[in-house]
Amino acid sequence: MRSVLFVCLGNICRSPLAEGILVREAAARNVPVEVDSAGTGDYHIGSLPDERARAEGRRRGCAMTMRARQVRKEDFERFDFVIAMDESNRRNLLRLAGTHASKVHLMRDFDPVAPKGSEVPDPYYDGAEAFREVGEMLERAVDGLLDEIEG
Ligand code: 4NP
Repeated sequence: MRSVLFVCLGNICRSPLAEGILVREAAARNVPVEVDSAGTGDYHIGSLPDERARAEGRRRGCAMTMRARQVRKEDFERFDFVIAMDESNRRNLLRLAGTHASKVHLMRDFDPVAPKGSEVPDPYYDGAEAFREVGEMLERAVDGLLDEIEG
């Protein structure tokens, strides 16, 4: 079974929403995949996702009961794909990745309508509309990722 770790800064907005969407979509497409998410930062360890991310996830039919954790070096052994939401997350992951740099990807590189190098912007200081837009991007990128996993 392939395994995927989504990573953002706080692990309370973008990456848990990506996790919820991939869990839902993998079940719908009947693709076996192990999914988790983590943050590069430690500020929100143990927290539920942000209320706005939970609302956006529920609206999209996802369970949003995961708790935030920080990414750790062992994650690069355990997961096949370690997927960053933005360039800053990606740089921080590459510093931890050691010999596993080739497992590190940028989320929107799986989004078929996004130019290469596009980011999932941090919605934390914005409103509900930003969370909806993040949800749209994540839906497309999750579809593209599942296409790749299915081969
Ligand atoms: P996330 O959003 O990285 O998508 O979970 C953020 C959540 C919290 C903070 C920044 C971004 N923060 O600065 O506390």
